[in-house]
Amino acid sequence: MSDTSQDIVRAYHGRTKHRFEAYAEGPGQLDWDAQPAPFRHYPGAPLLELPLAADRFERCYGRLPEKPENQIDADLDSLGALLELSFGITAWKSWGPSRWALRCNPSSGNLHPVEAYVLSAGLPGVPDGLHHYEPENHALEGRALTAPGDEAPWLAIGLTSIMWREAWKYGERAFRYCQLDIGHAIGALAYAAALLGWEIRPVANPAMAHCLGLDRADDFPASRYAFTEIEEPEILLVVRAAGLREAPPAEQLVAWLDAANWQGKPTRIDPSPGYRWPAIDQVAAASRLLRSTAKNEQISNRLPDLPPHPTTAGAAQLIRQRRSGQRFDPKHSLPKAAFYRMLDASLPRPQVPFSVQESPPRIHLLLFVLRVDGLPPGLYLLPRTPAAAAELPGALAQRFASQRPVADVDAECPAHLGLIQLADMGLQELQRTARALSCHQDIASTSAFSLGMLGEFDAATGDGDGHGYRELLREAGLVGQVLYLEAEAAGVRGTGIGCFFDDPVHQTFGLAGSRWQSVYHFTVGTPINDARIETGPPYPQRQQENP
Ligand SMILES: Cc1cc2nc3c(=O)[nH]c(=O)nc-3n(C[C@H](O)[C@H](O)[C@H](O)COP(=O)(O)O)c2cc1C
Repeated sequence: MSDTSQDIVRAYHGRTKHRFEAYAEGPGQLDWDAQPAPFRHYPGAPLLELPLAADRFERCYGRLPEKPENQIDADLDSLGALLELSFGITAWKSWGPSRWALRCNPSSGNLHPVEAYVLSAGLPGVPDGLHHYEPENHALEGRALTAPGDEAPWLAIGLTSIMWREAWKYGERAFRYCQLDIGHAIGALAYAAALLGWEIRPVANPAMAHCLGLDRADDFPASRYAFTEIEEPEILLVVRAAGLREAPPAEQLVAWLDAANWQGKPTRIDPSPGYRWPAIDQVAAASRLLRSTAKNEQISNRLPDLPPHPTTAGAAQLIRQRRSGQRFDPKHSLPKAAFYRMLDASLPRPQVPFSVQESPPRIHLLLFVLRVDGLPPGLYLLPRTPAAAAELPGALAQRFASQRPVADVDAECPAHLGLIQLADMGLQELQRTARALSCHQDIASTSAFSLGMLGEFDAATGDGDGHGYRELLREAGLVGQVLYLEAEAAGVRGTGIGCFFDDPVHQTFGLAGSRWQSVYHFTVGTPINDARIETGPPYPQRQQENP
């Protein structure tokens, strides 16, 4: 009997766990000759430079859930702002001979597997058809252009993963990182859309690979149509804004694009093909979206509205300055109000960015509270749904007999937050534990707090449709994106942590079996900047346009 999707996905998760005794299967050492290209281009496709116009649309970060006073129409300028603030470059860093780009979206190992495509018709200044977004020059490459029609305009963004970029460094665990990155990318796009007063929503499209030109044999000849070159179709998101209609259904899109003028050939990602990680191919195949209709289930509104953030900083400014903390200053602590606010913002509400999520919320937070003013260092729990609030404390009861709701002892803690103190711990022991569990990385222990994102693994993978695994990892990425921006708004900094020892995390919290699985870690604190690393502007070739 062949394995079901569910079996494959669950086996993949199990075999890609990091253990104290051994890390998940990886390349061992990096083959620099095979280093993947960070940018894909389509030479031969017409290039359309996008304006660097995001500052024209700047709004206070705290006002993002509201619509801007004046409606912003979708056109070349606003599309440029959308892409700049989601996938654009924010700085060039250099140290010695090394030079690397940072972008609005974070990425495991800064390897950036995510590629973005624009499908649109009727947008002023943008030719109708399919475009590839080229972040290096902030430009669109016209992949499949069509004659303009006379229907109402529409706009959709397709995201893909080039999994080889992550697999080159991380081996089998790379599929997880790609999904976490996709979650961050969806979040980055949702925030950029909110700045413009727009919303993004997923649309099911079983012909997504075809619509994005990823299955074109001429462009990906058989010898090159190998694991290291292919792009995995991930998600298609339709933009909802005044004046835009829904994107056409899949069959219409296919016919429209088949009749288009296809141009450009993809550049190579892998200069020295050789590696393969079949476990990634298998889990990718077992977790592809089979549904052909959108779920359109929105997160329900059971919580009080999130109060506007008190910061006066602009959203575009915070999005551009977002960075991962590389080192944290253990002499600093975080005000309690800022801590509660960050946790509150991570709860699933039908507003940016969680309005984009169609799967039920299944991520909960296991917290290592290290340096938060007025809170005893220790282990804490934040269930993000009423069902988990009812079940998780019981599941942890044996290990943490003296657990109690923080709101019972601290009037400043919002009652709806549902934060639970599991156990006090001496700071030194807590630091040792947090650091060890996150692959011995100091950033998990020198910060104000770090956390493990505990996923409802059995529920997510239990319906026979392996796609729930991708949704679980993406939700974790989405929560991570909230924490990154909320940290910047609070004047501190966050860092995603993909490297952690899976089962030792569960054991620390007294969890057995596969029902609950930690899928991502995160840390927030006061950063120490490395003055040796130089910072250059994002688009030096377009200096006059740079903010
Ligand atoms: C899914 C994911 C996992 C990550 N894991 C780690 C990690 O284990 N350790 C670490 O220091 N940084 C980690 N990072 C941070 C990345 O290294 C960082 O995002 C990347 O270098 C780009 O830098 P930036 O975030 O400043 O733009 C992770 C980021 C993501 C999105």
